[in-house]
Amino acid sequence: MERRPLGRTTREVAVVGQGTWYIDQGDRGSAVAALRRGLDLGMTHVDTAEMYGDAELVVADAIQGRRDEVFLVSKVLPQNASRAGTVAACERSLARLRTDRLDCYLLHWPGNHPLEDTVAAFETLRRSGKIVSWGVSNFDVDALDAVLAIAGPGAIACNQVLYHLQERAIEHAVIPWCESHGVAVVAYSPFGHDSFPTPRSAGGRVLQEIAERHGATSRQVALRFLVRRPALFAIPKAADPAHVGENAAAGGLQLTDAELARIDAVFPRGPRRRGLPML
Ligand SMILES: NC(=O)c1ccc[n+]([C@@H]2O[C@H](COP(=O)([O-])OP(=O)(O)OC[C@H]3O[C@@H](n4cnc5c(N)ncnc54)[C@H](OP(=O)(O)O)[C@@H]3O)[C@@H](O)[C@H]2O)c1
Repeated sequence: MERRPLGRTTREVAVVGQGTWYIDQGDRGSAVAALRRGLDLGMTHVDTAEMYGDAELVVADAIQGRRDEVFLVSKVLPQNASRAGTVAACERSLARLRTDRLDCYLLHWPGNHPLEDTVAAFETLRRSGKIVSWGVSNFDVDALDAVLAIAGPGAIACNQVLYHLQERAIEHAVIPWCESHGVAVVAYSPFGHDSFPTPRSAGGRVLQEIAERHGATSRQVALRFLVRRPALFAIPKAADPAHVGENAAAGGLQLTDAELARIDAVFPRGPRRRGLPML
């Protein structure tokens, strides 16, 4: 599994990690086994959130005894992101995750509490060692500018945003902003949540052709495209251990410039739109 520095944190993080939204919905034992298989295969970047029901409890079981291997991320809901509320939400997540620290703590999306208060809480948590770094999620460039003005350069570790082959809006402004400020971009829903291109579509056929040339799969090719630049990471969610194995293998795949160009052409990013798409 390829690893690279995540933003300006000093941590080398797996380029393909593991999401956990809805991972608490099926059989708990197999969800834990799937996450642990992912850790075995190097997918040690684990993303969860207070919003995801019991997902933090599933993650707690999966990382039991292996905490130091993991780059553990959770998120505060915007309605909880006041100064005191952020600290309290973090402490609840730490208790559910049965750990003493998060490697990165994110504001799940922009809300109504002043960003100054959320940033102050993040800094309090960082100084006390309850979080190692912090970042944001679903932030467009205006909101990123606002956080930068409050926190200063180097403070935002990452921006976690919707990014998959059929939704490339962040390429217009968000990725360039993050690259120029040393902020990692973490692609969520990298398979489109539930709408991966079928082999019957033009795009799906191109993915399959490229995959066959590498002895790989279309999803592996898609993941590799999404992490093709140094600032980019992806966090597919898979509760099925076979899916986990497939996704992990994308971390070692290399695509040629010509293959990246073919994918770029068949999944056009489209014109710039107002607002940031999110799930
Ligand atoms: N910050 C935010 O606002 C935000 C929003 C959405 C998501 N997220 C994060 O991003 C993570 C990923 O996004 P997501 O869960 O929305 O969707 P996703 O990762 O794009 O897709 C998940 C779906 O793909 C299936 N899948 C995974 N690997 C597969 C494979 N190799 N072959 C076939 N099917 C496969 C999964 O099935 P199985 O589970 O059955 O394996 C699941 O149904 C989330 O879990 C969450 O941690 C963050």
